[in-house]
Amino acid sequence: MVATALSSSVVSVPESAEAESPHIEVPSEPSGTTTRAPVVLDVRGLTTYFYTYDGVVQALEGVSFKLRRGETLGLVGETGCGKSVTAFSITRLVQEPPGRVVGGKVLFRGANLLWGLDEEATFKPIKGSDRVKVRRRFRKIKASHDRLASIRGGGIAMIFQEPGQAMNPVFSISDQVGEVVLLHRAIELIDGLLAATPDAPGVAPAIEQLVAAARDGDPTAITAAAAEVGRAANVSSFGTEAHYLAKDATPDTWDRLAQDLEHRLRRLRLAPSQRAYLRNRRHLAEAEQKLRGVYLEEMRRGESHPRDRRRALAARRRARISGMRFILPGIKRRASKPVREETFWRVVQALEGVRIANPVQVAKGFPHELSGGMLQRVMIAMALVGNPDILLADEPTTALDVTIQAQILELMRDLRHRVGTAILLITHDLAVIAEVADRVAVMYAGQIVETAAVKEVFSRPLHPYAQGLLASIPRFDQPTKKLTSIYGSVPNLIHPPSGCRFHPRCPYAMPVCRETRPTLTDEGNGHHVACFLYNGPKVVE
Ligand SMILES: Nc1ncnc2c1ncn2[C@@H]1O[C@H](COP(=O)(O)OP(=O)(O)OP(=O)(O)O)[C@@H](O)[C@H]1O
Ligand code: SF4
Ligand SMILES: [Mg+2]
Repeated sequence: MVATALSSSVVSVPESAEAESPHIEVPSEPSGTTTRAPVVLDVRGLTTYFYTYDGVVQALEGVSFKLRRGETLGLVGETGCGKSVTAFSITRLVQEPPGRVVGGKVLFRGANLLWGLDEEATFKPIKGSDRVKVRRRFRKIKASHDRLASIRGGGIAMIFQEPGQAMNPVFSISDQVGEVVLLHRAIELIDGLLAATPDAPGVAPAIEQLVAAARDGDPTAITAAAAEVGRAANVSSFGTEAHYLAKDATPDTWDRLAQDLEHRLRRLRLAPSQRAYLRNRRHLAEAEQKLRGVYLEEMRRGESHPRDRRRALAARRRARISGMRFILPGIKRRASKPVREETFWRVVQALEGVRIANPVQVAKGFPHELSGGMLQRVMIAMALVGNPDILLADEPTTALDVTIQAQILELMRDLRHRVGTAILLITHDLAVIAEVADRVAVMYAGQIVETAAVKEVFSRPLHPYAQGLLASIPRFDQPTKKLTSIYGSVPNLIHPPSGCRFHPRCPYAMPVCRETRPTLTDEGNGHHVACFLYNGPKVVE
């Protein structure tokens, strides 16, 4: 008997899943899931292989799930089941070669992130062996990766299982976190600019020039082009702000910004009806700006009155969140401060946010000077800085001690409530899942075998594998229960078992299980399972 690799932490299932439901603007189902919230990530049939000398590792085979706004989906399974590869495949960060996402769709903001996959490589089986010759078209692959780079960080952020591998050893922490801060801030700036003046004459060509300058990474040209944009849009502080950004941003930041700008430029070349829509947005932005004039007045008064100061601070937070802060004339003085200083301060704030005790020293330090737990928190700070729509968190708390673990989970919960971030939480620890997830997806050998609301899975696991996982952990709600483990171990994915991949370990395996792959079917209450015990020919003698 081989014990499962899952953590043996004690699990207490929430009394009522309702208590766990997020307090965000989106409506949520009484069960604690947010099934009526809009879908922000739709993964369909994701298939990823690793082409090794021993053969093709079929690491993911048709993984599908949806993530809704503000929802936390827990992804569980033994070691080697494909949890990390799922997260890497969504963001196209699978190590290539030997890996390759070979099929599926990842729909985010209405676009398929895996668009153009078929054109990136051709495959030819090598006769007489299990191997395949893969011819990669690296230019096409690079174009896809460039397209995705602007989404990573801002739209989709990731916390990696191995923080050491994700940080660059030669740059200081403040440089690395600061880059994300700068990028996010530059995007805020452009968004604010376009919201205020979407159709002012001359803005589009000026931005085109700025894109070209950003692509070249030439700070002087960037400053000149930005000043031109500022003149065309009648927002003079834009030029000043861009001047400091140009001085401090790395070429990579500008490259990513250029991609983002290009995306936004498309909005300037719209049909009249679409432009009318944007004009309405401009009126809204103007109204907001007026409102902020009041806030600024409050801020000035706040210097002498504690109550007003509190209100002013709240107003400043609101102003900051709205992304218009840097083009407000009232705070021009602040905006023209060197960006480096401001960025450093924001990095320190981000580090404080993840409870790093001496953030100034840590910001000045380098990755090798930090412990694994500290690095993990720096990575979490980096992921949270951009207020992402989606957070892919791969074992975010495994390397941390229990008190810090609780603080980090609290941070993630806060992000979910404040920004409506949807979280894919990958973990071995079912206690963490029980505490923070709305739904659970159980993964086995590269496939999702069961999904349901967290309470449903803990109280009524259907798949024999999910039953095995739950039987192997101690539970407060079943104190007299005897612990058992799952027979055998995860199969070699070069030669995965035929039919149901779990059949060699399953105590209920039937002949049909060896021949046919079961598909996920709805067993009521939003509970989906892939097992012939529920949804197929029951017994074939
Ligand atoms: N670079 C690689 N080359 C070959 N196979 C790989 C590579 N990376 C991952 N795999 C294979 O993909 C499968 C899934 O691995 P993955 O890292 O996603 O597992 P996991 O569920 O995240 O496990 P853990 O809980 O240990 O992190 C495994 O069979 C693994 O051997
Ligand atoms: S399909 Fe068959 S082998 Fe697979 S889990 Fe169900 S009963 Fe077991
Ligand atoms: Mg992993």
